[in-house]
Amino acid sequence: MPQVSGRYEGLGVGFAPYLQPPGEGVMRWTVGEPGFDTPNEVIETAIQGLKDGKTKYTRGAGSLELCNAVSDYIKEKHKINCPAEDIVITPGAKQGLLYSFLITTMPGDEVILLAPSWASYEPMLKFIGAIPIHVPVNKDTFHPDLDAIRNSINEKTKMILINSPCNPTGAVFTPSEIQEIVDIAKEYDLWIVSDEIYARLVWVDYPHVSPASLPGGAERTIVVNGWSKSWAMTGMRLGFLAGPTNAMKAAAKSQANSASHVPTFLMDAAKVALKCDNEVQKFNNEYLKRKDIMVKGLSKIPGLRIVEPEGAFYLFIDVTGTGMTDVEFANGALDAGVQLIPASLITGGSGFIRVSYACSEEVIIEGLERLKKWLLE
Ligand SMILES: Cc1ncc(COP(=O)(O)O)c(C=O)c1O
Repeated sequence: MPQVSGRYEGLGVGFAPYLQPPGEGVMRWTVGEPGFDTPNEVIETAIQGLKDGKTKYTRGAGSLELCNAVSDYIKEKHKINCPAEDIVITPGAKQGLLYSFLITTMPGDEVILLAPSWASYEPMLKFIGAIPIHVPVNKDTFHPDLDAIRNSINEKTKMILINSPCNPTGAVFTPSEIQEIVDIAKEYDLWIVSDEIYARLVWVDYPHVSPASLPGGAERTIVVNGWSKSWAMTGMRLGFLAGPTNAMKAAAKSQANSASHVPTFLMDAAKVALKCDNEVQKFNNEYLKRKDIMVKGLSKIPGLRIVEPEGAFYLFIDVTGTGMTDVEFANGALDAGVQLIPASLITGGSGFIRVSYACSEEVIIEGLERLKKWLLE
């Protein structure tokens, strides 16, 4: 029997083992998926697209109408100047990330990740032969350690990968931190891949700032974003890349040689979503409420060190004060009826658990009761 190539040997799949549906009645605090319905207007437009026969091949980088809409959107919301010709619509942000990694590295090149980082980055980089170099963030604030970034750069370094607002820590990097990262990238002539999938989920009083909007940033930054999180469209698999012309030509080639394009009938729906500001605001108000309930409830449990999340919909909690490892804590929580993720699965996450407050308020409240019963009674 033929063997699959060695490329898959030991290749991880992120948090996937902990994202499986748990037993009946378990409160699921694991999945980074909005607990809301996709805006109705988006659904109706997708259905209309099917009825109108938008079921055929089309422009690989996405319809020009959609690329124009994305160009306007990132200019208005994130001060990024990028023409429609330099936008590529991808099957989810994840595939966009893969293209970005292919564009910025050759096998053996090093990529700086700020640890702990999203569980999928490391296996995705290894998949294409790039070498992830984990640079720890400040453990008390989860903000980047700029000296450490500088010190980890060598002649093999090709790219710095950032994700602000951050999954799993909830940190939102300050405008000056982003500027410093741009300055470092400029000094060493590095690419920046900026995963901005949580850009609209910011709970602090300073804005999300894209490196692509800063002096010296635009020509070296590939912005990765998508519709999954802020518009509750995870299953539609819609994302986009914005970047300098040379990188976006390569992104279009990556897509031409793999996915071809995203489903034709979803392109108008994606365009409509970009105008659904009321829904985004409504979801955000809910997340804020849920965050506060979770932070307040968990703060009552001794031994948990909680850093107030600044964005996204995750809490990254140090459980070492309970005397348990993160895996022991996660197993105990599961026995108590709450599913959460032990972060020792990722580099820099040992001793922490990640919980998502994207689930419903009822699931949060019931989960808190169960954890309190387990740990306080
Ligand atoms: C940091 C980060 N980037 C990218 C993605 C993938 O998003 P998409 O559903 O658009 O592929 C996720 C999803 O959890 C994420 O947390």
